[in-house]
Amino acid sequence: MKRSSTKWVVCLFIMLIVVLSCNQKPKEQPQTTVENAQWWKEAIVYQIYPRSFKDSDGDGVGDLKGIIEKLDYIKSLGVTAVWLNPIYTSPNADNGYDVSDYRGIMEEFGTMADFDSLLAGMHQRDIKLVMDIVVNHSSDQHEWFKQSRSSRDNPYRNYYHWWPAEKGDPPYRYSLFDAKGDAWQYDTLTNAYYLHYFAKQQPDLNWSNPKVRQEVYDIMKFWADKGVDGFRLDAFQFAAKDTTYPKFPEGYEKDFIQYYAMQDGLHDYLKEMNEAVFSKYDVFSVAEGAGRNFDDAHKLVDKDRQELNMAYAFEGVDIPKYEGYDVATMKEVFTKWDQEFADDGWLSIFLANHDQARMVSRWGNDSDAFRSASTKLLNTFILSMRGTPYCYYGDELGMTNIDFDSISQYQDIAAINGYQKALSEGEDMGLFMEKLNFGSRDNGRTPMQWDGSTNAGFTSGTPWLPANPNFKTINVQVEDSDSNSVLNHFRGLTKLRKENPVLVYGSYELISPEHPTIYAYTRALGNEKWLVLLNFSNSDSSIKLDYIKPSDNVLINNYNVIDISQGEISLQPYQAVILKIQ
Ligand code: NOJ
Repeated sequence: MKRSSTKWVVCLFIMLIVVLSCNQKPKEQPQTTVENAQWWKEAIVYQIYPRSFKDSDGDGVGDLKGIIEKLDYIKSLGVTAVWLNPIYTSPNADNGYDVSDYRGIMEEFGTMADFDSLLAGMHQRDIKLVMDIVVNHSSDQHEWFKQSRSSRDNPYRNYYHWWPAEKGDPPYRYSLFDAKGDAWQYDTLTNAYYLHYFAKQQPDLNWSNPKVRQEVYDIMKFWADKGVDGFRLDAFQFAAKDTTYPKFPEGYEKDFIQYYAMQDGLHDYLKEMNEAVFSKYDVFSVAEGAGRNFDDAHKLVDKDRQELNMAYAFEGVDIPKYEGYDVATMKEVFTKWDQEFADDGWLSIFLANHDQARMVSRWGNDSDAFRSASTKLLNTFILSMRGTPYCYYGDELGMTNIDFDSISQYQDIAAINGYQKALSEGEDMGLFMEKLNFGSRDNGRTPMQWDGSTNAGFTSGTPWLPANPNFKTINVQVEDSDSNSVLNHFRGLTKLRKENPVLVYGSYELISPEHPTIYAYTRALGNEKWLVLLNFSNSDSSIKLDYIKPSDNVLINNYNVIDISQGEISLQPYQAVILKIQ
């Protein structure tokens, strides 16, 4: 052949290959490639209530230096981010959720230099820091409020919501923490009432005022410029208010979220905040509360909305009541929320936080016989669900509720004012105290149990809240050296989650929804299929699934044994296992 015809043959050959390869099915993505992967979806968040974590100077209150002392411990847990409850200057009516200076550090917690060292220490260890932003309200000791209340024509007047007394009584608004349940507080100075959805020391900021919004964005930028990695927006779903104050139906306070959350303007504020702050930094954002319904929640967190990255819904965490709860409800609620956000949006997974009693006492069984197994089961749940897990300090040890019987032992403003309200309304106070004993937030705020020494090694002084007397057996030192401890099981779970994207991004499917005691679900990604089995009862229970084989790989187990036969698995009380299905 001549040279030119050889060229043609080569060209035709190449074209043929191109055409053939175009006709082939697109190559499958590698199995672990995940669309929309984000570090905050992969994060395992450890929540620290700084007041109760570690006191470094003996004043009985936890502090930033205390947290710094424990950074290696935090790293050893396998968590990748820390959410700190508020650490700003505060008169502490609500333990820091009443901020009087958003750029200052609470005196009891330390200094800005301590904060800088803490942040650097976290970053050195590859741990992200999430700050709590409390801007539905400020403290009544904030300079803005001092100015605002000083006269009706003060430039800060419009930073808050006022109702002039000459207009008569303000339309009833329920307050969550007020001793009378009244969200309007009369102020003699200007003969007007101000609005506070929480305690009267927490006046609500007026978000319809652009100056307020700008102040908040500047505060957030101040912290973002320091290098923090995320913001948790406290009570933000309540920030927008309908200031025509329509009359709400009798008894609305039982379902106040339907009336207070997501009022007009809220999404505009979030979009503006996103534009001003989130879009300018590598920070993530999470809202406390997910609105009134799925639609509200989607509007907060769906990707194209450009508002927030995630939210935490209360329906799950609110399930256990003093009267108990049913695993069927748990399955239904968590499955419903998972399915609703399977394709768009992202949520948090949590069973406890500083507003709840202890996880194992509410959701598990804190008796000596079952505390360890049931805490491990609950941790298995949190760390194997879709959504970003939030683990509350002390739950990695199985810390339990404390047994207070007199109101004088409580420190929480919600408990103390709630008691006053119940008393004035003639409630059955015996029952009230029993419910408080079970559900009070102080249960979840007792000092971290580090070792068996005085005050659980939390402080050399007098702790602001007593350590739970069970600290001699439930503490970091004891559990560290026990390979079967709740603590080491927790570490095993974080490792498993970090090494396996199936636990983060895999689909979730509820299995055997009708099973009375076992909560079973699969997580699947590409070729991986994992089965999670959680026996939520204090007796043996078994489940039949034809695909189960004795040779299935057991990835985590809170007992040393497992009873699997072809098509069936028997679980001991509170046994929790994750199997890799072949
Ligand atoms: C929600 C916080 O989690 C809670 O602790 C606080 O009391 C209220 N918001 C008021 O800020």
